[in-house]
Amino acid sequence: MSELRFDDVTVRYGRTAAVDGVSLAVPPGAVVGLVGESGSGKSTLARAAVGLAPIAGGRITLGGVPVPARGRSRPLQMVFQDPYSSLDPRMTVGASVAEAMPPGGSRADRRAEVERLLELVHLNPACAGAVPARLSGGQRQRVALARALAARPRVIVADEITSALDVSVQGAVLNLVRELQRELGLSMLFISHNLAVVRYVASHVAVMRRGRLVEQGPAARVLTEPGHEYTRELLAAVPGRTTRRSRP
Ligand SMILES: Nc1ncnc2c1ncn2[C@@H]1O[C@H](COP(=O)(O)OP(=O)(O)OP(=O)(O)O)[C@@H](O)[C@H]1O
Ligand SMILES: [Mg+2]
Repeated sequence: MSELRFDDVTVRYGRTAAVDGVSLAVPPGAVVGLVGESGSGKSTLARAAVGLAPIAGGRITLGGVPVPARGRSRPLQMVFQDPYSSLDPRMTVGASVAEAMPPGGSRADRRAEVERLLELVHLNPACAGAVPARLSGGQRQRVALARALAARPRVIVADEITSALDVSVQGAVLNLVRELQRELGLSMLFISHNLAVVRYVASHVAVMRRGRLVEQGPAARVLTEPGHEYTRELLAAVPGRTTRRSRP
């Protein structure tokens, strides 16, 4: 695991800076929550990290090495909001996960690795033979996580991964994220507009507004003694905000 760093990163669409001079680090083994209202630039920052948004200034590095500006980089894997569109509907779950694995190994080894990954995200390995349409939204998001893990990434960028799910399964997916962080020492940039969700999984929190970071720091500090008025406004909108680790 190594540090993902954004140094003074700017992304422009036409004249507007969707991301404006953002500096942020995701230390090894940390889950950094990125929050902010809709349109604040969270997804654009994430997309810049995986080469899907054009960087007009600054740099993004992983373990001190620039992340390639184009193409998908294995050490950095992204999981999106919508598990329906991020999985190929014609491929079985097993084939989807196997596709993301590094090449090599016998068929039996690869099959065993797919099973291990499905078990890691608490899916029955028998799911390997199913197509995504047979699974629930929560199960599909677990497959998307297994697929991301299959690439043996150093950092996962998760963009609103629970936002499209029923509230009843959101908590289970968030528990999985916490478990993966604890057991694998996974580093993650965890994006959500929902502060209650971020509070549940993140050790560090960064608050974005209109393309800029207005505040960042340990979750315990930012969420209990916010230094910026905007963070206070976001917090005021969250119900039951006195218990830091309460379930959203
Ligand atoms: N491909 C694009 N072309 C032009 N403008 C874009 C593009 N992608 C994003 N933007 C603009 O950049 C700004 C930031 O958008 P972004 O999607 O990063 O926000 P967000 O914080 O992820 O919002 P949400 O919480 O709704 O997902 C918005 O004003 C958006 O309209
Ligand atoms: Mg977004």
